Amino acid sequence: MSRPELVAPPEIYYGDIEAKKYTNNSRIQQIQADMTYRALELLNLPPDEPAFLLDIGCGSGLSGEILDEEGHMWVGVDIAPSMLEVALEREVEGDLFLQDIGQGFGFRPGSFDGAISISVLQWLLNAETSHPTSSPPHRLTRFFITLHAALKNPSRAILQFYPTSDDQIQLITSIAQKAGFGGGVVVDYPNSKKARKVFLCLFVGGGGGAQQVPKGLESEVEDEGKVQFEKRRERLKSRSGGKRKNIKDKDWILKKKELYRQRGKEGVPNDSKYTGRKRKAVF
Ligand SMILES: C[S@@+](CC[C@H](N)C(=O)[O-])C[C@H]1O[C@@H](n2cnc3c(N)ncnc32)[C@H](O)[C@@H]1O
Repeated sequence: MSRPELVAPPEIYYGDIEAKKYTNNSRIQQIQADMTYRALELLNLPPDEPAFLLDIGCGSGLSGEILDEEGHMWVGVDIAPSMLEVALEREVEGDLFLQDIGQGFGFRPGSFDGAISISVLQWLLNAETSHPTSSPPHRLTRFFITLHAALKNPSRAILQFYPTSDDQIQLITSIAQKAGFGGGVVVDYPNSKKARKVFLCLFVGGGGGAQQVPKGLESEVEDEGKVQFEKRRERLKSRSGGKRKNIKDKDWILKKKELYRQRGKEGVPNDSKYTGRKRKAVF
């Protein structure tokens, strides 16, 4: 089967029917969730603190909802209106923007504590018109320069993608480096045809924490193709002391409301002594 990015431009490929099919496919849900957990692990955020993250090519929110689950706030950008409509229908928590990432971002400098991108970058490797500024290197340059500016110093961007060759990895890394990023490539399960995953692990400044590029995972299961969803979930949980973040506690709600106000969102409820209090059940 042809790779989707070779079939049609993303906003056409992910039309109404494909957007729903993609989102409702339980195997895809599991794979995207698994890779998002791994991206969060590689982001190396301070434990137990909600972060403000950018989800690049957020689609219908399969990656973003893992960010919610882990107690983070996020902004998602995507070029496909139908994917964003499905995200809205699913009432994801992130703020959504319709945008072509090849045009670059217009966020304020230093807005985000980190960025993730799951299964998107390969789309930027395909020119959509013959105009010179539409060439993959031009689009990748705009993307990386404006992404670098939108991130805090220090922070990281973790971009999982599906390259077809080492040359593509080389092209992407060299453009990212020219845009000011440090870091490199992490390859999980390098010897497995099915489970192999490539993550670009980019650092702004020192990238926070240890500056070396993390090691890729080696095969741990008999059936290498089997997605290690539960293992990843457990690994992430153990980083945060074995408990899931209480995403609805008072500090989290206050911080989120403040952020919405700063961004000019209307109708944010006033803080009161009841904010973040557990409601009593009424019988
Ligand atoms: C395989 S989906 C992944 C969606 C989501 N990250 C997930 O994990 O489910 C790839 C997404 O990349 C988006 N995309 C491709 N090229 C893009 C571009 N130039 N700008 C913004 N989004 C793009 C597509 O519209 C699609 O929603």
